[in-house]
Amino acid sequence: MLCHLTARRVFIFKQFMAARYLSLVQEKAFVNGVWTEAKSGTTFDVVNPYNQSVVAKVPDMSTGDAEKAINSAYEAFRTWQNVPAKERSSLLRKWYQVVDSNKEELAKIITAESGKPLKEALNEVLYGNSFIEWFSEEARRIHGEIIESPVGTREIMVVKQPIGVVGLITPWNFPIAMITRKAGAALAAGCTCVVKPAEDTPLTALALAKLTEEAGFPKGLFNVVTCSRDNAPAVGKLICESPKVAGISFTGSTNVGKLLYKQCAQGVKRIGLELGGNAPFIVFDSADIQKAVGGAMASKFRNCGQTCVSANRFLVQENVFDQFVSMLKQEMVQQLRLGDTTKPENNLGPLINQPQLEKVESIVKDALQKGANLHVGGNRASSVGPLFYEPTLLTGITPDMRCYNEEIFGPVVTVIKFKSEEEALDIANNTHSGLAGYFYSSNMAQVRRVAKQLCVGMVGINEGIISTAEAPFGGVKESGIGREGSHHGIDEYTFIKYLCVGNL
Ligand code: SIN
Repeated sequence: MLCHLTARRVFIFKQFMAARYLSLVQEKAFVNGVWTEAKSGTTFDVVNPYNQSVVAKVPDMSTGDAEKAINSAYEAFRTWQNVPAKERSSLLRKWYQVVDSNKEELAKIITAESGKPLKEALNEVLYGNSFIEWFSEEARRIHGEIIESPVGTREIMVVKQPIGVVGLITPWNFPIAMITRKAGAALAAGCTCVVKPAEDTPLTALALAKLTEEAGFPKGLFNVVTCSRDNAPAVGKLICESPKVAGISFTGSTNVGKLLYKQCAQGVKRIGLELGGNAPFIVFDSADIQKAVGGAMASKFRNCGQTCVSANRFLVQENVFDQFVSMLKQEMVQQLRLGDTTKPENNLGPLINQPQLEKVESIVKDALQKGANLHVGGNRASSVGPLFYEPTLLTGITPDMRCYNEEIFGPVVTVIKFKSEEEALDIANNTHSGLAGYFYSSNMAQVRRVAKQLCVGMVGINEGIISTAEAPFGGVKESGIGREGSHHGIDEYTFIKYLCVGNL
């Protein structure tokens, strides 16, 4: 009898979870607090990269639809900018709580539309939600200052105010975290948002919108405009150029980032760009090689290498080169399991789409044609699924190879041998990118020197995973402008106003 009751409860619970999942998979965009179709009535398919099944159809919105979202955020800003920080904080806290209560379902949505293994998707939900939590706390710490005036009858006051409506253009590789890292900060500062998620992964953005509804957000605060690859350039341009939008935050490719930067120039918009990386991962002779291999696996294979901060070029000092390569190969063969990403035993998913698969494949072919040595992998893993690529390890890398200069964004490790610290730094810094860099060393003087000399915005020292809500995320050179996360993240969404109080 007891057993029967338990089985029934489990059944009811499973039904409930399935219904919850379905209620979060929205097939309409979210504008001014209303679930909305495109004016044209057209939709586009959201495809599961694991098996190419159509997960859902969402509105293919055009500039007219996006305009409505901007107007709604503009209206909402009139009120939201004056809502006391404590109330903004409480509302964000509620959003954090509902996201937390729905984390399993959100992870399933991420897996379904991005192909990210379920366990990793759940970690992304926790990571993404940590930004909402963090900024719910930071909302109450946006301080001004009083500066001593040179004139006795005056007071110099400095206040920080929200910039206004912000356009958040987000990528497919972290469908939740790249939205919350921006929107959390923007809403905390008193801004309102128009989110344009990547064409490949709009469902997570819509699920987040659904949860803003459940958290009790006022209408217009958080809008989501979905559109296909065809409409994306025009919608992006409108968001950048609309006089009602005060700022843009974009995470994605360097080429698109440069285009948006140009489009924002006309209106002299505030812009935050988090663009491509080409992260060096340096292993010095003095390093703990076991730890370096662990860090390399974590950094390289997170989200199948489709991460801006992923190690892209492994530079290994000559005395430990063979040991590092052989240990890394062993780990790759033993640890990485490709397959159905909803199954917990699989930890390496497919690439996001066909162009990405072809790019990775052509980078490997180019290296092999130019004389690289293949240790493992080197082919599509078509027996697993149409977009899978084998974890691949290459040495004998030379500067004329594409993998030496380009961001790979796939499960491909390229290892370069170096002799001296100076040579390693030369190779590491010889790129237009400067997002993250990593190195392993147990020589403290070297740690200090190399940390200073790497031309990047973030450095992992004896550490392969560095992202966290508490730390400022961002790059130098062509990797971007501005910082996300940490208390600096709020600054992207506020401006400083100087008040001169005279005749006192
Ligand atoms: C990215 O790849 O764009 C973000 C990665 C992270 O937040 O760690």
